Amino acid sequence: MDYRKIDFDEELETGSETYNQALGKWWLQQSGDKAHAHAYRKIGQHIEAFFPSPPRRIVDFACGAGHMLGRLYRLYPKSQLLGLDGSEFLLEQAGERLQALEKDWQGRVELIETRLPNFDLPAGRADLCLFIFPNIVPDPEDDVEDEHEFLVGDLAAAEYLSIAREPDPEEETVEDDPETLYDALLSDNFIASNLRTLLHKGGFCVRADYSNAARDDLTQLVQRRLAFEEGSLGVSVNGHRAKQYFKLVDCFYCESTVLEDVYHQTQDEADKEGGYLVTTLKAL
Ligand SMILES: C[S@@+](CC[C@H](N)C(=O)[O-])C[C@H]1O[C@@H](n2cnc3c(N)ncnc32)[C@H](O)[C@@H]1O
Repeated sequence: MDYRKIDFDEELETGSETYNQALGKWWLQQSGDKAHAHAYRKIGQHIEAFFPSPPRRIVDFACGAGHMLGRLYRLYPKSQLLGLDGSEFLLEQAGERLQALEKDWQGRVELIETRLPNFDLPAGRADLCLFIFPNIVPDPEDDVEDEHEFLVGDLAAAEYLSIAREPDPEEETVEDDPETLYDALLSDNFIASNLRTLLHKGGFCVRADYSNAARDDLTQLVQRRLAFEEGSLGVSVNGHRAKQYFKLVDCFYCESTVLEDVYHQTQDEADKEGGYLVTTLKAL
């Protein structure tokens, strides 16, 4: 499939259903390439090294075609796995992948087709929650501020972080208007709160987020936006304190052509240089 034939803006405007259609086929192709295989392997190795004993209950939030589920299924033969995703098409691929590993896979893995975020899922149970290469698409009628009662501190922090610009204009990376940025910050923070509800206190969330640079090389403002989005912002911004769901415990950066997933959507040459961050967060 040639990504240049996809109008990403038009597709994403239709909502998450596009992952059953054009974007589902695109993602299946992308996620099956060498760069993604390498990234999934690295993330798996990190999880194996990080956890002294196997996490018993693992959730893969927006699991797609199940690449990480397959890895963790083999790595942890006694763990229970739950894969959540809105795409029937990609979940079928995940099922086929697991079926190829073992015919009795359904004894240890549940795949649930659901729109995300979803606060009706079993809460407080998981030891590990994955959120890998996220691209959660809101449905056209969704308005995150209607769906969730944010605290005053969350709204004020999001407002400041969406309006603030770099002290040195040469370092400015934001092209979106403040309203777009504000909505994106709140939507991502809302997803972080959903990830937190799936975990018990002290459980871990491992995320892989596309990035143009290592975390330490991002400006302070970009690091704070990132922390707000992942629910780990532990400092006040402009006198406002957002609710903290997680504590950041580890983050490493890998250069990788997986960033082309972003370039396909933005057509911005800057999105050809970079890779991804693997971030480990502890549920507070
Ligand atoms: C870029 S893919 C990543 C998949 C997987 N985590 C991986 O790394 O292979 C994004 C996934 O999010 C799912 N998704 C996007 N928006 C969603 C929504 N609102 N509800 C449920 N799933 C959604 C898509 O179906 C797709 O599987």
